[in-house]
Amino acid sequence: MIIAVANSKGGVGKSTLAVHLAAWLDKQGHRVTLADCDTQQSSSQWIREAAPQVKTLCMRDPDTIINELPLLAEETDYVVADGPGSLAETSRALLLVADQAIVPCKASMLEIRALDAATKVLRQAQKIRVGPPKATIVLSMVGKNYRLTQDMREAAALLKLPITPTFMTLRQIYADAPGQAAVVWHMGSRAREAAVEVERLFRELLPEAVASSHPAGRKRQAAAT
Ligand SMILES: Nc1ncnc2c1ncn2[C@@H]1O[C@H](COP(=O)(O)OP(=O)(O)OP(=O)(O)O)[C@@H](O)[C@H]1O
Ligand SMILES: [Mg+2]
Repeated sequence: MIIAVANSKGGVGKSTLAVHLAAWLDKQGHRVTLADCDTQQSSSQWIREAAPQVKTLCMRDPDTIINELPLLAEETDYVVADGPGSLAETSRALLLVADQAIVPCKASMLEIRALDAATKVLRQAQKIRVGPPKATIVLSMVGKNYRLTQDMREAAALLKLPITPTFMTLRQIYADAPGQAAVVWHMGSRAREAAVEVERLFRELLPEAVASSHPAGRKRQAAAT
């Protein structure tokens, strides 16, 4: 399965989500590859340190993405592709081959309104492919006491994009994680709430990937206990 973390808006939390998702899927016992499709290559560097078992490669050329990403997906259980902050052609290529798209978005009306433009390429891909990729919004960098308002719900509904019940809260620990070459569940008690939050979020996004729901993960869990 190819999962693209995509929003053509920069700095919305794509790489933070992609690295945690790839490391979490690995923890559930899957074979995972992180395809870093951003020019900054920050996520591939981060995951190499935080979860070295996850394979990484950098892919920015649209032709390479269209030709090689599906082949890569045959050799691995999950490919998590970290999309670029701009580069429409790279995003387009990614969304033409992805099975699922996760769209991180900051929680403000302005950002949700900007999503219409930022997800244009997503809708083009869905139109060409008559359906896929299945796309979901994850609100990111959300204030601790934030509640989803009706106008936000309506704006997302207009775009036909569901929002996960769990958000990624604005927490210093997420910003500290790459500098410490870690993912939040390896960062001790200070990161506990963040670790619980991402676990809940990924279970919502990919219930079938949870270790206890597939044979390889159950075996790995049994071996660990
Ligand atoms: N939930 C969060 N709480 C606090 N800081 C965060 C959170 N998520 C991301 N950040 C920080 O915000 C900045 C942007 O995040 P990130 O690099 O993940 O976004 P991006 O969408 O991949 O950006 P780009 O479009 O430039 O690739 C980084 O400094 C990151 O550490
Ligand atoms: Mg990024």
